[in-house]
Amino acid sequence: MLRLSGDHRVGGEVKAPPDKSISHRAIILSLISGEGRLANLSRAIDVGRSLELARALGAGIEGNDVVYIRRGAFREPSRPLFAGNSGTTVRLFVGLLAALPFFSILYGDRSLSRRPMKRVVEPLRSMGARIDGRGEGERLPLAIRGGGLKGVEYELPVPSAQVKSALLIAGLLAEGETVVRERTPSRDHTERLLELCGAQLKRKDGQIELLPSDLQQLDLRVPGDFSSAAYLLALGLLKGKVKVRDVGLNPTRTGLLRVLRRMGAELEVNEKGGEPEPIGDITATASRLKAVAVGEEMVPCLIDEIPLLAVLSTQAEGETRITGARELRFKESDRIRAIVLELRKMGADIEELEDGLVIRGPTRLKGAILRAHGDHRLALSLVVASLAAEGESQLLGDSWIAISYPEFLEHLKCLLK
Ligand code: S3P
Repeated sequence: MLRLSGDHRVGGEVKAPPDKSISHRAIILSLISGEGRLANLSRAIDVGRSLELARALGAGIEGNDVVYIRRGAFREPSRPLFAGNSGTTVRLFVGLLAALPFFSILYGDRSLSRRPMKRVVEPLRSMGARIDGRGEGERLPLAIRGGGLKGVEYELPVPSAQVKSALLIAGLLAEGETVVRERTPSRDHTERLLELCGAQLKRKDGQIELLPSDLQQLDLRVPGDFSSAAYLLALGLLKGKVKVRDVGLNPTRTGLLRVLRRMGAELEVNEKGGEPEPIGDITATASRLKAVAVGEEMVPCLIDEIPLLAVLSTQAEGETRITGARELRFKESDRIRAIVLELRKMGADIEELEDGLVIRGPTRLKGAILRAHGDHRLALSLVVASLAAEGESQLLGDSWIAISYPEFLEHLKCLLK
């Protein structure tokens, strides 16, 4: 349990923690190429799951500040593979396992076992993979007899970077061309890393064409995680001034910056360039916020930041309407239901829509006893809400924070005045 009081001001500077999404991909592409040298790899629990799976498939992993991954032959895992709470681990690895000529089983914790898997299982089956699971492949555990895949053309029915990435990973090791189309762009870290490793990949107008390719060794410094930085920046906007250094600025991730600017937030971005992903420093200064509408076309590039945006919207003048975000119901928790439940305890004027949220502000939030719903992004968003509230809050389930951001409490200590 974490006790938090709204009495503090916030100020100072922190280096962003390493990006979780890119770290998963870097591990898997190193595993596929046979070798990788990864600096600034995330220490998030979720990323640890991907490292464990890489090991179980035959990789040697060494190093601390720089992690070296080396693989001889792929090895059939002798035991079921545990992905913990990590949707990215399970969905990206099912793409790889579908292409490898052996038998494997993937399973996860209670939350992951409730999340939908057919979105990735079905297109992989159409490539020739034999995958079984509960509910005909909708739920974990999944049993995979891989190998012999053929490239397909596939249009994503819901924007999902995890599904897109699974198909690209499978496509790398399949016969013939794989084409993936997406109507709304989702994060493109996999495409950027594949290009960096020399894959034969073409991108145009929402279409990705990939030919089976041998990858070059991946040598990467992982950029800072925008999603994690967002909690610190939100504290700056609500309570002082915060600078976060070396944050990944990939535009498919930074939708929140664009929305916050429309809300009147004072945000200074100093881009420093960088390949394959741009990075930079972001400074957020206490601002008067006004409500805006956020529609479906914006959702994929700020999907993980919506609970936090809901917290910020409680402090914005007017009615914030977030729609087209039904996907939030299928994350580590039902994030629409959970954020409404928790922020109401604090006195927020917030309503649930089937596919989003309506928040009216500004409201003076009050301290309360809050629950993380087994969801790291809920826990982090509620810490921000508690620090913006009057009086003391208690957060139950704060240990979930380490799923994505183990350095958070240390960073927070540096910033609280
Ligand atoms: C992720 C993609 C998103 C996001 C998740 C990480 C990724 O999920 O919510 O936290 O690393 O590819 P979807 O692909 O389900 O949208």
